[in-house]
Amino acid sequence: MPTNPVPAGPVSTNPEPPRPDRAPRPRRYLVCEPRFFDVQYAINPWMREDAQVDTELATSQWETLIQAYRAHGHTVESVPPAAGLPDMVFAANAALVVEGRVFGSNFHAPQRRPESTEYDTWFKATGYEVYRPESLCEGEGDLVPVGPYILAGTGYRTTRAAHDEVQEFFGVPTIGLQLIDPYFYHLDTALFVLADGSEGADGTGGRTDANIAYYPEAFSYGSREVLRRLFPRAVIATRQDAMAFGLNSVSDGRHVFVAPRASGLIDQLTRRGYVPVPVDLSEFHKAGGGIKCCTQEIRS
Ligand code: ARG
Repeated sequence: MPTNPVPAGPVSTNPEPPRPDRAPRPRRYLVCEPRFFDVQYAINPWMREDAQVDTELATSQWETLIQAYRAHGHTVESVPPAAGLPDMVFAANAALVVEGRVFGSNFHAPQRRPESTEYDTWFKATGYEVYRPESLCEGEGDLVPVGPYILAGTGYRTTRAAHDEVQEFFGVPTIGLQLIDPYFYHLDTALFVLADGSEGADGTGGRTDANIAYYPEAFSYGSREVLRRLFPRAVIATRQDAMAFGLNSVSDGRHVFVAPRASGLIDQLTRRGYVPVPVDLSEFHKAGGGIKCCTQEIRS
């Protein structure tokens, strides 16, 4: 195997050896077309009430993402957008679906609450039952399944009480992580799953170890330590990569759909044997969202 020169950039203390045999697993993604996408209120530090959104550009960026998913073998389904719900494009926030069981959302911001009903209607029409949480909970924005766990963010949106509800509902150990930086108000802005542990289970011979990438400073000291213990080989991102929405990425175990400006992260992923697929969702950054926010995974 030829040896590649090591590009400059942050290197985690215990790097995983590069592996050329990363196996992708085809996914089923749920999205919502940004027909009514806009910034009309400010519920996170990225949003400005006077922001100008270019809807045409937003639509073409979003379509590029959908095409990239399909080109890499993934199934994409779509919830019809609703007028008056400018954040509905952020499908990740609507639910967490694991083993075909749907844990719905209960939004923190009153402006977003009607989105839950729109998504629930889609799930019910598609044949799923939907559990409606009592506690404030923003779906995959704060709930991230990886290996034998569900990582669960709190601090800005989803509450600790919701983490308990998640654990009771799925029977999966749910690990609370405290977010401490308002720019990273959802767990999926500070952490993403590179491999959830199921890749290669179809006999393709890939690695099956679960792993993540994250920005440690977004987390409290204790939560940082938890992540360090659980994922000693994680990819550690810089603030620059995190502010470029680099951690709001989607991985199929091999291809990583990632914001192009997260260049340090892209270099690290390449060194680890992943294949970055840059997709620019800059218009959505004005609302505090990126690739992962626009994507919910339906896990059967
Ligand atoms: N404007 C939306 C909000 O603040 C953005 C949601 C982004 N979604 C995500 N999964 N991080 O709620």
